[in-house]
Amino acid sequence: MVARLDQVSKYYGSGESATCALRSVSLEIEEGEFVALVGPSGCGKSSLLHLLAGIDRPTQGSVVVFGQSLAELEDRKLTEMRLGKIGIVFQFFNLLPTLTAVENVELPGLLRGIDPKEARRRAIALLEEVGLGHRSGHRPEQMSGGEMQRVAVARALLLEPGMVLADEPTGNLDSEASRVVIDLFRDLGKRHGATLVLATHSPEVAAASSRIIRMRDGRVLEEAPGKSWDS
Ligand SMILES: Nc1ncnc2c1ncn2[C@@H]1O[C@H](COP(=O)(O)OP(=O)(O)OP(=O)(O)O)[C@@H](O)[C@H]1O
Ligand SMILES: [Mg+2]
Repeated sequence: MVARLDQVSKYYGSGESATCALRSVSLEIEEGEFVALVGPSGCGKSSLLHLLAGIDRPTQGSVVVFGQSLAELEDRKLTEMRLGKIGIVFQFFNLLPTLTAVENVELPGLLRGIDPKEARRRAIALLEEVGLGHRSGHRPEQMSGGEMQRVAVARALLLEPGMVLADEPTGNLDSEASRVVIDLFRDLGKRHGATLVLATHSPEVAAASSRIIRMRDGRVLEEAPGKSWDS
């Protein structure tokens, strides 16, 4: 098992103004799954991803990722674990504007203390894998949205994480670019053996997953198999 949430609740703020984002959510994510979190705006998808990523901590309940209880890890250890085992793709890419594509992709390797030559080699290989070998010297502003998103996917995979989390990775893309990114997630997930969890409003993305988790008002409503993981 890659991750397990047990009776997790998340409140933002406290007292009368507190917002409840997750209400007693329990779920397990197995190795190799491609999980799509779906549900209306505000239902708690991003909050759930943040807890899985260790970016945030639950108000109640336990989050265990790769056998580690996140509540017991101090902040520094949490950051270390995230950098090694979890790749994150955000909706707005979060690429550093002054760095080229290849520099953005190799950055997690440099932060991790990998030999810079090796980090560069991996970054170039990944950019080629996502079809952007010819854009490695471009800065984000010189790329299209779909290209930036693919750079962000490549970056998330640099340290060969066991789990990749993505928050609306196709939210800003047209349907053609979305398809490319979805196919990429599926292929790379299989090829690199990574478990994928992503939040999405797109029925096409959900249909590409192996399991759909439907949420509403901070609760998990139902879990259904996705359609075409093995196709
Ligand atoms: N930092 C925060 N402070 C206060 N409330 C927050 C915070 N982040 C989220 N919330 C609230 O928690 C609830 C869940 O938000 P969340 O971002 O998880 O929803 P979501 O499903 O990702 O929505 P969307 O599809 O719009 O991205 C919402 O009611 C939101 O207003
Ligand atoms: Mg969200």
